[in-house]
Amino acid sequence: MILLGVNIDHCATVRQARYRGYDQTAPGPVEPDPVALAVLAEQAGADGITIHLREDRRHIQEHDVWRLKEASKTRINLEMACTPAMIAFALKVNPHSVCIVPESREEISTEGGLDVLGQRDRVQACVEAMNAAGIVTSLFIDPDRAQIEMSAQLGAPWVELHTGAWANVWHTAERAAEFARLVAGAESAHEAGLVVNAGHGINYANVAEIRMLPHVRELNIGHSLISRALSTGIAEAVQTMRSLMNPKNL
Ligand code: PXP
Repeated sequence: MILLGVNIDHCATVRQARYRGYDQTAPGPVEPDPVALAVLAEQAGADGITIHLREDRRHIQEHDVWRLKEASKTRINLEMACTPAMIAFALKVNPHSVCIVPESREEISTEGGLDVLGQRDRVQACVEAMNAAGIVTSLFIDPDRAQIEMSAQLGAPWVELHTGAWANVWHTAERAAEFARLVAGAESAHEAGLVVNAGHGINYANVAEIRMLPHVRELNIGHSLISRALSTGIAEAVQTMRSLMNPKNL
């Protein structure tokens, strides 16, 4: 059974498009609420919730993390950059796991894997702090043997293989080669004793292939689930609004 981690960041992206700068914890019209969405996702079978508190706070806010901590009945996977401020925050929140990702302000979503080799000392400090606190560290890396081996060497128990490069070429002739890279990465990570998760760009079409990845424990999916929820929910949303606008015609 492959587990499903649901990433709720894009729900917060929609909220921020209208309510950036509001007091979002005051009663009122602030919507959509990513925490309420997470609870619905859990009730529908999500095995865990991923929430990315970015340095620029472009979608998820700190109050979302604290409210999710109160409301979640599954596991919280806190995605974050490898910085002293985020390490301190994670130690306060005490999620089940943290997923360490690279962050650059320009990217719309996480674009590439973490350079564990290039940032060895920073990553090691983070892994050690989390291990000491009993929080699982997952390193979000490209399916690259050297990155995988260094992840294991630093004592991280989990890796999340970045599936974005494969997802981006899924409709092209390069897809088989990218999938082969992921398969080799999953095999190397498993051999190194790492738990193998995967995520980024997984959707309703390509999931049939990625589910064949060897040793994969959990897929983390966000954008496609939120997109689907918008499409499947729009009919009810329109019908309800029309009824409220014209109650006498009911
Ligand atoms: N895993 C990680 C580490 C991510 O950064 C993201 C994107 O926020 C995802 C999974 C989910 O990617 P997507 O939104 O494309 O499903």
